[in-house]
Amino acid sequence: MNKQPIGFIDSGVGGLTVVKESLNQLPNETIYYLGDSARCPYGPRTPEEVRQFTWEMVHFLLEKNIKLLVIACNTATAAVLPEIKQKLSIPVIGVIDPGSRAAISKSKNKRIGVIGTTGTIQSGVYERTLKNKKQSIHVFNLPCPKFVGLVEENKMNTTDAQETVLETLNTLKEHHLDTLILGCTHYPLLKEHIQNAMGEHVTLIDSGVETITDVSMLLDYFDIASTHEGEKHHRFFTTGNKEQFEKVAKQWLDMPELDVEVISLEKYQKVTQMEKVLLIATKNKGKAREFEQIFGEKGYSVKTLLDYPDIEDIEETGTTFEENARLKAESIAQRLNVMVIADDSGLMVDALHGEPGVYSARYAGEPKSDTANNAKLLSELAGVPKEQRTATFHCTLVLARPNEQSIVASGNVRGEILTVPKGENGFGYDPLFYIEEYGKTTAEMTPEEKNKISHRKKAIQHLLSILPQEVLS
Ligand code: DGL
Repeated sequence: MNKQPIGFIDSGVGGLTVVKESLNQLPNETIYYLGDSARCPYGPRTPEEVRQFTWEMVHFLLEKNIKLLVIACNTATAAVLPEIKQKLSIPVIGVIDPGSRAAISKSKNKRIGVIGTTGTIQSGVYERTLKNKKQSIHVFNLPCPKFVGLVEENKMNTTDAQETVLETLNTLKEHHLDTLILGCTHYPLLKEHIQNAMGEHVTLIDSGVETITDVSMLLDYFDIASTHEGEKHHRFFTTGNKEQFEKVAKQWLDMPELDVEVISLEKYQKVTQMEKVLLIATKNKGKAREFEQIFGEKGYSVKTLLDYPDIEDIEETGTTFEENARLKAESIAQRLNVMVIADDSGLMVDALHGEPGVYSARYAGEPKSDTANNAKLLSELAGVPKEQRTATFHCTLVLARPNEQSIVASGNVRGEILTVPKGENGFGYDPLFYIEEYGKTTAEMTPEEKNKISHRKKAIQHLLSILPQEVLS
């Protein structure tokens, strides 16, 4: 059983028609919905713009740990579904295939109408999809640019809405359709007017209903459905007006308690525009600084986990430095679809056969404590003579990219373990780690001195020397 939420995105409130069906068919699932009402309508925008905005929404929801993504917007599905599907590691579904399939199965005279936004109709995606599935189908397209505004402004139940629908659909009537695809997720909110305008003999296809049937199948196929029957904490996000969104959502979903959160997608603009983001898997800004210098020059925007507060800590369950660093880097890279560098480091003492190694930070148990770890190390080495107290500070770095092989680099610094701690700087085992060449412990060095010779620095140098050309170009 998997209680992670399902993510839904749309340019505004339209995708709620898909959500309504999810609440009906999949009551055990938690829903996270994002409507980009501030930039609605998407219909008249260029495919490039729709692509950009859609990716921003996708990145926002990926951070919320969704298990499946529904692109509950025809315009976005038409512009960018194949690319998103290919790049994400979770299942992704759009609304065009399911709607087309349902229309084909319902139509008897093979004359199918499609109404949608200008973007969807101009893309020709419905015509292609329908004909790919059944060549003998006749398709009649009609863009309805006025419909989305009526819904976003909550004017569905006005005479203005009724007249606009009647007027717009007039030209479709001469084609003797028996099936009409509502090729925009906003349109089911105008269903009554559409049905009146077309007549009872025309079957309306609401892709939302069909899409959720597919979602249900995917959840079962990937074994990620939730069986949890208790109360759900659904979340609704909008980039636009809270009250307006809340009004439509409460009414349409029949949820009087629903609360809408207003969010900004600004932070994701760079992520998608440049597609050159490097996330250093640490909450320590200092650790990210060196990468910032090198990768910043190459056009990367360098981030840390502080920029992604919703990513929970990944447990270091590996038995080697590489396993731990790989675990962190690869799981975050897949989930957020960005390039990630993660590290794992520790102290390996020769007389202790490489201990504490990967367990350096938790050597003396939980909660982690530098003092307790140092005390334990001293007691383990009690009586071991100076010449046998040699040790290595080791660092492994893993650079992971979505759907690519990871790159692994490492660096070492040799030293010896003192019998009494010296120095106030640094952290961890620094006060006990003495480097003969410098005549000091790493806790006696200034941060600048230590950074120049550290195991981490050496691993960074190693990584840079083996990076494939395309990463830094
Ligand atoms: N609801 C969207 C769709 O399905 C788009 C509406 C718009 O923003 O134009 O196409």
